[in-house]
Parts: sequence; structure tokens; C-alpha cells
Amino acid sequence: MEDIVLSGIRATGRLHFGNFLGAVQHFVEYQERDDTTCLYFVADLHTLTTLDNPDELRTNLMEMVKDYLAAGLDPERSIIYVQSSVPEITELCLYLGMLQPLGDLMVIPTYKDLVRRFPNKVSHGLVTYPVLMAADILGPRATLVPVGEDQVPNVELARDLARRFNNRYGDLFTIPRMMSEMVRVVGLDGAKMGKSDADNSIDISASIDDIRQRYLQRGITDEQRVRRSDPGDPYNRCKSVYPLHELVTAGEVQTRTIAQACMAAQIGCADCKHMLVDGIAAVLLPFQERRREIADKDAEVREILHEGGKKARAIIAETVAEVRDRMGIVLY
Ligand code: TRP
Ligand code: SF4
Repeated sequence: MEDIVLSGIRATGRLHFGNFLGAVQHFVEYQERDDTTCLYFVADLHTLTTLDNPDELRTNLMEMVKDYLAAGLDPERSIIYVQSSVPEITELCLYLGMLQPLGDLMVIPTYKDLVRRFPNKVSHGLVTYPVLMAADILGPRATLVPVGEDQVPNVELARDLARRFNNRYGDLFTIPRMMSEMVRVVGLDGAKMGKSDADNSIDISASIDDIRQRYLQRGITDEQRVRRSDPGDPYNRCKSVYPLHELVTAGEVQTRTIAQACMAAQIGCADCKHMLVDGIAAVLLPFQERRREIADKDAEVREILHEGGKKARAIIAETVAEVRDRMGIVLY
């Protein structure tokens, strides 16, 4: 069966190494598959829940799309677009909202977390965030939605909405499969990379020297390993270095060798960090090269988004016309 893969990312800032490893590289893999249509978009409307600076939003969006392209998303093989270029998504959000019990929205962990952190910024837009996300997903009738762990409840809600619609108005939506195989990438402090407030990210445009400095100074190793001769515990106690080795360092044999050398106190943590940064460099340098090439190609990037928007709109408009029809809405 043909798969329709869809994922979105908010325009809150440049991609960091966590998005790069955890998400974008998977997006690139899906485009190589046969029988797969990929839709990747920037969720600019979702970004409005937390960002009210128009210039910042516009700049973030362009920069992020360039990051996406440099990371290997290919407009020939994926539909790359901006959420607001497809106004039917917002319309679909309204229709789906009619089927969505309010109470269920208020118990979603990401919502509760924001309410706790910013109690006086709870907008209607924030409450409907997952419904808009369901419209993103159901509009093109996605079959597979790769997301990070934190987004799982939102995708679950989209699945519920699809079922509710189908039950009330007859089968229309495919129930999308959730894909949360996306890896969790740890930041410098050992927490998830890119969690707001923490300065724990690796900037994908940073020079390798800077990244090296940051790891050498701040990367958290096994804190019980005081002397070089103390054996370390890479699997349980090394907070931010070993977990990244498992993602970055080529080959399982090599990561196992590092772990064994650590447990036998044959390598020091500084050497280990150097090896890690060499692995990061191998991934990032080719990206940075491509990123420099498109840095000033704004016109081309806009053209890509324009074309992607047209393609996405054609697909989504068809679903929304069907939804209108089933719900009894007539455009006179
Ligand atoms: N909410 C997602 C995030 O913050 C972004 C997003 C918006 C999304 N719409 C989506 C992801 C649809 C997957 C599918 O990461
Ligand atoms: Fe972590 Fe490497 Fe030090 Fe072991 S040697 S504690 S894996 S940094």
C-alpha cells in the first residue's frame, strides 16, 4: 500500500543538532522509499501560539527551510510547504473542532505543561493546537506520522478525530499510524536537546571548534569517574557523551569498543569527547557546506515553497471539499 508520510516543525528557531539527528535524517530516508509520498511542512500557524514577533517568524521560517534543504530534503521527491499556504487546513481545523470534546484537550500533557509554565498565556489557539495538528495530518490523509515522543498524545488525538469523523459521517479518513521511532537526542546537560530554557543544544551551523569546546567544557560524563584510572559506566552514568556516540559514531562495533574502553578505564573522557566531536564533524561538515551554498538563495527557496504549497493545496483541498459535503456545508 502506498504510504503518505507527513511531518511538521514549528518555526521557533534554527534547527539544532537534536532535530537534525532525531527527525530530519528520518525525513530524508522516507523520501528514498518507493511507493511513498512525503509531505513536510513548516507549522507557522502553530508557531503563533508562542511567538508574536512577525519579523522573527518570517526569518525563522526561511532559515529553517534552508536548513531542511541543506539536510537533504529534496523538493523533487517531497512536497515541502508552509502550513498557511494551504488555507483549507485552517478550515478543516474548524470542522474537526466540532467533533472534539473540549475536556480531552485540557488534559494533554504538552498543554498542561504550557499552562503550568505560562499560566497567563493560555489562548484559545493554544487549546486548539492539537485540532489544528489533526487537520495537518488528516488533510492529506497521511498514513504515517513520524514525530518525537512529546508529540505522541497529539497524534493520538488526530487518530481519535479521524475515527469520530468516520463514525459520524462515513469512512473518509485513514487512521494514521504513529511513528515514534525517532530517537531522543540528549543535549550537553544530559536532558533532551533543545528543551526550551536550557542552553544545551548544539547549533548545526556552529564551527567544529566551538562544538569541541562546548563538549570539552560542559559535556557531562560519568561523574563518579573522578580519575582517569577509574572505570566508567557509559550505559547508565555517562549523561551526555556516550548516548550521542551511539547515534553519531559510525558502526556498532566502534561504539561497543568505546564503551568497553570506558569500562576498562582505557580511555579518558577528554579523548572520548574528541572522538565524539570527530563523529559529529563527519555528519555536520557536508551539511554546512550545502547550507552555505543556499544561504543567499531566497528567491529559489520561495519558489520551492510556492510550488510545494500548490501541490499540497491540491491534495488537501480535495479532502476538505469532501468533508464539507459530508457535513452539509455548501459553498454558494
Ligand atoms: N506540534 C509539532 C511540534 O511541535 C509540529 C507539528 C504541527 C506537527 N503539525 C504537525 C508534527 C503535524 C507532525 C504532524 O513538533
Ligand atoms: Fe562517558 Fe566516554 Fe567518559 Fe566513558 S570515557 S564516561 S563514555 S565520556
